Amino acid sequence: MQIIKYMFKPHGDDRGQLVALEEIKDIPFTIKRVYYMYDTVSGVIRGKHAHKSLQQILICIHGSCKVRLDNGTESKVVPLEKPYEGLYISNIVWREMYDFSEDAVLLVLASELYDESDYIRDYDEFLKFIGKKK
Ligand code: TYD
Repeated sequence: MQIIKYMFKPHGDDRGQLVALEEIKDIPFTIKRVYYMYDTVSGVIRGKHAHKSLQQILICIHGSCKVRLDNGTESKVVPLEKPYEGLYISNIVWREMYDFSEDAVLLVLASELYDESDYIRDYDEFLKFIGKKK
């Protein structure tokens, strides 16, 4: 499974850093929704779903967390610990976010508006959807 990470270029000067992200130019889709997670309770696993169509970029803009990606054949863990790196997650990929540091803020850029019918929240259902169920 290919892991696609974007390294954004901060506009750094003697005042500090600034990262600007434009749809299509820096992000490979039109950004229809932005959300973020913070105050995540220690030990919690978030996500635990796949999307039928949605694409996302995850950026841990403060603190750190880990993301486990699973395409039904293999699984990889990607640490997110820099505010200038973004993890691209295509549709039909099971994701779990965990190991959040106390100060973690996980920003998500999404290609679609919120739509519960785009979610696959059951792992067996996910395998069935991609035709991997034995
Ligand atoms: P949830 O899907 O459980 O978060 P995750 O799977 O990423 O850990 O979402 C938590 C709640 O927030 C749930 O009630 C749905 C709501 N929600 C929205 O209203 N809009 C959104 O864009 C998202 C991502 C969630």
